[in-house]
Amino acid sequence: MCGIVGYIGKREATPILLEGLKRLEYRGYDSAGVAVLQNEKIEYKKRTGRVAELSRAALNNGLSGTLGICHTRWATHGGVTEENAHPHLSNDGKIALVHNGVIENYLSIKKFLTSKGITFYSETDTEVFVNLIAYHYEKEAESPNRFKESVRRSLKHIEGTYGIAAICRDCPDEMVGARKGSPLIVGVGENEYLIASDVSALVSRTSNVVYLNDGELVSIKNGELSLVDYEEKTLKPEIHQVDWDTSEGELGDFEHFMLKEIFEQSEAIQNAMRGRFSDDESSAKFGGLNLSAQELRQIDRILFCACGTAWHACLVGEYLIERYARIPVEVEYASEFRYRNAPLDKNTLVIVISQSGETIDTLAALKEAKRKGYRTLAINNSVGSTIARESDGGIYQHAGPEVGVASTKAFTSQLMILSMMAVYFGRLRDLSFQEGLECVKGLKRVPELVENAVQQNDAIYKIAEKYKDMTDCLFLGRQDMFPIALEGALKLKEISYIHAEGYPAAEMKHGPIALISKDCPVIVLATQPDIFGKLISNIQEVKARGAPVIAVTCESHPLPEGLADDEIVIPDCHRAALPILASIPMQLLSYHIAKLRGCDVDKPRNLAKSVTVE
Ligand code: G6P
Repeated sequence: MCGIVGYIGKREATPILLEGLKRLEYRGYDSAGVAVLQNEKIEYKKRTGRVAELSRAALNNGLSGTLGICHTRWATHGGVTEENAHPHLSNDGKIALVHNGVIENYLSIKKFLTSKGITFYSETDTEVFVNLIAYHYEKEAESPNRFKESVRRSLKHIEGTYGIAAICRDCPDEMVGARKGSPLIVGVGENEYLIASDVSALVSRTSNVVYLNDGELVSIKNGELSLVDYEEKTLKPEIHQVDWDTSEGELGDFEHFMLKEIFEQSEAIQNAMRGRFSDDESSAKFGGLNLSAQELRQIDRILFCACGTAWHACLVGEYLIERYARIPVEVEYASEFRYRNAPLDKNTLVIVISQSGETIDTLAALKEAKRKGYRTLAINNSVGSTIARESDGGIYQHAGPEVGVASTKAFTSQLMILSMMAVYFGRLRDLSFQEGLECVKGLKRVPELVENAVQQNDAIYKIAEKYKDMTDCLFLGRQDMFPIALEGALKLKEISYIHAEGYPAAEMKHGPIALISKDCPVIVLATQPDIFGKLISNIQEVKARGAPVIAVTCESHPLPEGLADDEIVIPDCHRAALPILASIPMQLLSYHIAKLRGCDVDKPRNLAKSVTVE
């Protein structure tokens, strides 16, 4: 959470910083600020609200200089005010700092600094941090690398997580950055360097990047980059090339990124599949697992860990892998796994799923699994992300950048990879050649079917108009449609602020049925031919209590006339692909309802796309 960008070079920093910051806005958007070194003084602007507000203020007031830092905030310590917005300046005005993360021992440091006469204008941990750097800066007056050394010394006292960029009034040719637990990347351009939380902020200027690891400190001084650890050991920076089409992050003709990304799903799924089926077309193959077929056959349990929408993908994965590969699967919230001493068998494979590859709880769960000696894999959409680099092996989604905070194409692309993984693991065990062939054939049709499913956009808009004023909504599904019900409810609540719950359809009778009334529409995923009768009974139970029913059905299994108030029909597909197809109307319905209610679809209140604090 929070996005940071820093620039040092020969050009005007402010427009470059603000352009980068705009691309990081998904990380937090309650306030923003920028600071540049101008006429030997650190000048800054801060605004509550969006980066656009800050841009107006900063560009109109001509903040000018070739060294600067900026930040978009998701509040942790202190409310949403200009005082609490970053960059934070030290008491003496010498040092400015932007920070993503949480300093856990800030109170004791604040007490120490207060005893030295330092005063504080904000409620943030970051203001404490910058004053600690200023304190060491005064103490390091004799050091040839005074600024860098003051940051390094401060970091040794800091407990918690951070990705930082700092500048100093006395050092017009130097910018310093460091990371522990929060991502930080350096972009290496021609006669210029950038520091950012995410490559998306850099790619319009350079495709050469250095990924910092935890415990590393970078200094860019007089055009030279140097990397050290906190013990001052010199490290060799490794420059990676990022292949990123900047136009992918643009809205184009769409009103919102969420809608654009819903319509991009066919392509994203195609990218997830490309080159990943076996030559005999009866199985899948993955290049980066770093596990031999023999090692995979020895796996007798899989544990999935993730957060949010990715956790729902894991639940679908559980059904798929148990069905096709017959391997027992468990799914854990990453935040629970990391603080639970779960006994795992030595042949357990731990798989984490994360679109961003930076979610702090998922990363911590991965590290915990590795610490215990388990083999780990990551399904991830961000090449070079921390999770991708930390896992033993992995599968990239190649879904392209997902900007809308509510995940759509990343989710269905994860589902496709999980279906393929289920077939692959299955074929290493008891799934027959014929069954494998059918699965692969079915999965290959998915992009075309998804293309058809999104064409129902207008019809779903009409349903959204009818239900947009509801205050509560229940989503019901069975088997692998239960996680899709959970995901449908999450989508609706996160972007439209309507209270929504997902439940296993039969479990409704054990509580949620008490909520059912004419004012609580129920969305039923009635898509599985094998349990169609049971789902019809559940719909009857809902109807008997007066609630409107929106049913999602498959082409070949429509509901009896008049049973549902509204029906959304998805194309028939292979059973393994059903969760993908059923997700599309859930996404479109939430999108239109949120839009009709006037909500900020791409930046829902209080949320952030990349959750890098616990
Ligand atoms: C946030 C986002 C969700 C996402 C979750 C996990 O809550 O708003 O869309 O599913 O984080 O993110 P990850 O990047 O790990 O998939």
